[in-house]
Amino acid sequence: MARLPILEYPDPRLRLRSQEVECFDADLSRLVDDLIETLHATGGIGLSAPQVDDRRRVLVMDHSGDASRPELFVNPVILADGALGLVEESCLSVPGLVGNVIRATELRVRAQDREGACFERDLSGMEAVCLQHELDHLEGRLFVDRLSFLKRLRFRMAARARAQRGSDAA
Ligand code: NI
Repeated sequence: MARLPILEYPDPRLRLRSQEVECFDADLSRLVDDLIETLHATGGIGLSAPQVDDRRRVLVMDHSGDASRPELFVNPVILADGALGLVEESCLSVPGLVGNVIRATELRVRAQDREGACFERDLSGMEAVCLQHELDHLEGRLFVDRLSFLKRLRFRMAARARAQRGSDAA
């Protein structure tokens, strides 16, 4: 297992759409293990393959609070969703930004495990929200895109100022 580096905004690779997993082999299993190790090392609750520069439709979550219950979703699809809520989100690929996003607070998801077996699960609360956030990553979308126009504008200006300071220092 290995802890992988996480791509950060505005890296254009975060904007690519990930591809369906068709090959449930040792390489996929290695990616899954690395994603889980990387997630636990960061202390986050969710991580998707494109964030570690891999374009397979794979995401992991762990809501246990003590890194004891990693969950894997390969080729996840939302089958149905329920009531919407305004929730606060952040992202390992967008350090320093917290913002409110509208998400379904309950949903039913179908996915595959690392052997390719299909399963369905009902998720609610933060688990449902996190799954939608990670699923966005597989589509090349970031939670920044879902923020209000003003919040997005402020964020872009701050990011540009940071990049400018970085290039002045170099
Ligand atoms: Ni994220």
